Amino acid sequence: MRVLALIGSPRKLGNSEILAREMLAALPAETEREMVRLAELRIEPCRACYACLPADRDCVINDDLAFLLEKIKGADAVIIAAPVYFLGAHTSVKAVGDRLISVIANNAEYAGKRCVTAVTYGIPGWEGYGREMVLNFARFLHLEVAGSMLVQAASPGEAARPEVLAEARALAGRLLGGAEDLSLPGVHTCAACGSSLLQIAPSGAVRCVMCDARGELRAADGGFAVAFAAGGHGRFSPAGKEEHAALLEAIKARYIAERNELYRIRKPYGSPDWWAKR
Ligand SMILES: Cc1cc2nc3c(=O)[nH]c(=O)nc-3n(C[C@H](O)[C@H](O)[C@H](O)COP(=O)(O)O)c2cc1C
Repeated sequence: MRVLALIGSPRKLGNSEILAREMLAALPAETEREMVRLAELRIEPCRACYACLPADRDCVINDDLAFLLEKIKGADAVIIAAPVYFLGAHTSVKAVGDRLISVIANNAEYAGKRCVTAVTYGIPGWEGYGREMVLNFARFLHLEVAGSMLVQAASPGEAARPEVLAEARALAGRLLGGAEDLSLPGVHTCAACGSSLLQIAPSGAVRCVMCDARGELRAADGGFAVAFAAGGHGRFSPAGKEEHAALLEAIKARYIAERNELYRIRKPYGSPDWWAKR
């Protein structure tokens, strides 16, 4: 079994790397292990050119994305470990994430790879949406997320506490099989994608901000439970991703059909020249 660890931290021997290494070390002896530091790759921003659509086309930017995608395709399972920066995940995760539009419809090439995520954050209560951002990143890579951990640790090395390392080793075991578990102690999470970012309407209707699963708040055991609606396919299911890809292709086709008219609308906004000069 080949396991690839993606490190979304610029820090060498930082908390994310320590957790990823602990997980890799916990895997069976015959495991082939490899690590990639996302922040060291040359990944340019997505240009929104849509040249990568439809599905059989690749991104036209010539940088390290192809190298990374080949590494992921060659792995049987993936570990993603990244820190929270300004309440989201580190830029390297977002930079690669935006470019995943080029593989949005390529489920068949990536499917069947289990993944676990570890997110570190420095200040209690400042974890923001880092965990959710990394979970989404994994799902847009078509990985099957089997578990996640969220660790408060500020300075590099602080995550190396016995109970945290034990959690990391147990999490690594999820790469080998068993039921997925994306629960978070003490809070409700989405039944479909495990996100803790749930919108609650005054009516008690609940919506997962990440995958759009719907449910409702119900009184239960002196508190509240969220009952999620069954049926339909989630945004992150293979069918949901095909739907997303089809939607993007339709947007591209509409643009091509209407581009002359859209150019006529856009052109007057080209002046005056208010761009700052460096
Ligand atoms: C620019 C920057 C922004 C950060 N933003 C947050 C934040 O929003 N919330 C938080 O709890 N910690 C924040 N941190 C702290 C890191 O998440 C924390 O130190 C983490 O353990 C770093 O993991 P690493 O060692 O793997 O890089 C930030 C750190 C840096 C350098």
